[in-house]
Amino acid sequence: MSKTLVLKLGKQPKANGFFKDSELNKEVFFDMNVAVDDNTKLLSLTKTLDKEMLFNDEYVYHSSGSKTMQFHFASIANQIKRQFSPKKVLEIGSNDGVFIKHFKKKHALCVEPCGNFADMTAGMGYKTYEAFWDDKLIEKIIRDDGLQDVVYAANCMCHIPEIGKAFEAVHDVLTADGVFVFEDPSLAEMFNRTSYDQIYDEHAHIFSVTALAEELMKVNMFIFHVENLSVHGGSNRIYAARIDSDYKVSKEVLNNLDYEKSIGLSTFGAYEQFADNVRQSRTRLIGLLYNIKNNHKKIISYGATSKSTTVFNYCGIDRTYIDYITDITPDKQGKLSPGMHIPVVSPEVGMNNSVDFAYLGAWNFANEIMEKESAFIERGGKFITHVPFAGILNPC
Ligand code: TYD
Repeated sequence: MSKTLVLKLGKQPKANGFFKDSELNKEVFFDMNVAVDDNTKLLSLTKTLDKEMLFNDEYVYHSSGSKTMQFHFASIANQIKRQFSPKKVLEIGSNDGVFIKHFKKKHALCVEPCGNFADMTAGMGYKTYEAFWDDKLIEKIIRDDGLQDVVYAANCMCHIPEIGKAFEAVHDVLTADGVFVFEDPSLAEMFNRTSYDQIYDEHAHIFSVTALAEELMKVNMFIFHVENLSVHGGSNRIYAARIDSDYKVSKEVLNNLDYEKSIGLSTFGAYEQFADNVRQSRTRLIGLLYNIKNNHKKIISYGATSKSTTVFNYCGIDRTYIDYITDITPDKQGKLSPGMHIPVVSPEVGMNNSVDFAYLGAWNFANEIMEKESAFIERGGKFITHVPFAGILNPC
């Protein structure tokens, strides 16, 4: 399996590794590089941190942390019920139960390696395996719970470095006409928006439909439908099934494959262009922040995201530019951001009248945030983003 290096994003810490002052000496860094598989065109990190370091009892990301995502998961849960009427549903990476809670407990199974979240769904009454998704776990599930009609995973399959084995395990746990529905950030959208902050330690891969079709074919599965979603800065929801099932391939699958071909995802040029765009994005963002600081204005960051860990560490953006980050997640507040050590505070504390500019770390929730922060905008506050170009979002 030969790969071609696409982009180096420098030394990066654990993206979600917000930490207390006293834990400074525990911080670890790795060289974050991405490469593309010459055959399948799967874009992956060349190395990442150990999975036990990334996904454990201290995991801080709550899937239900925004109204947008609560609505999103209610809607796909209902869609799955209507379309497939599953008797058994299994979710890989069930987090705080935001999806599974829409299914009856006797019909649903959770798999979640982070103990703090596994406890939550177990506490809600759902059978939960506190485990990583692998072949040993599958053997146990098949033995104790039987084959599953639907396997669902949101923002989880792209976390698994050995994706071939993970897909094989899904194949094995599905009934003959079972359906695998999974959604992750889209490579095409990342390229279109130069949103290179989709790349961080947890995202072992950024998937194109092109690469997924190849990878699933290796385990005797095929994609029969694709939905392009706006969440997480542009995602694809993939519907896949066993190769011997009767599902018909929808025109959306062919449209997505054609579109990805048209923007060059099957040739190396598109990957080189993306890398160039990322370097330019860095220059523009640093220039913008530098000019604002030169005018003695206060900049903060909104949303202590994994994405902003990538941007801040790649661009060297520290407290010289950003006074602090606001975030609604209690587990992140009172801590320092990974690598750049910018303090995190609650929005109630941080969004005060002294703020002139807020960099959108959670640019994927721009609409929800700008609606919430209308008072900031009304008094002349401005949001900054780097997506799709570094600039001020509401200049007038
Ligand atoms: P997300 O963009 O999903 O993050 P990641 O890059 O880590 O995958 O996370 C959004 C973060 O932003 C999360 O920590 C919650 C925070 N947030 C706010 O602080 N205020 C808001 O209004 C919203 C929508 C999110």
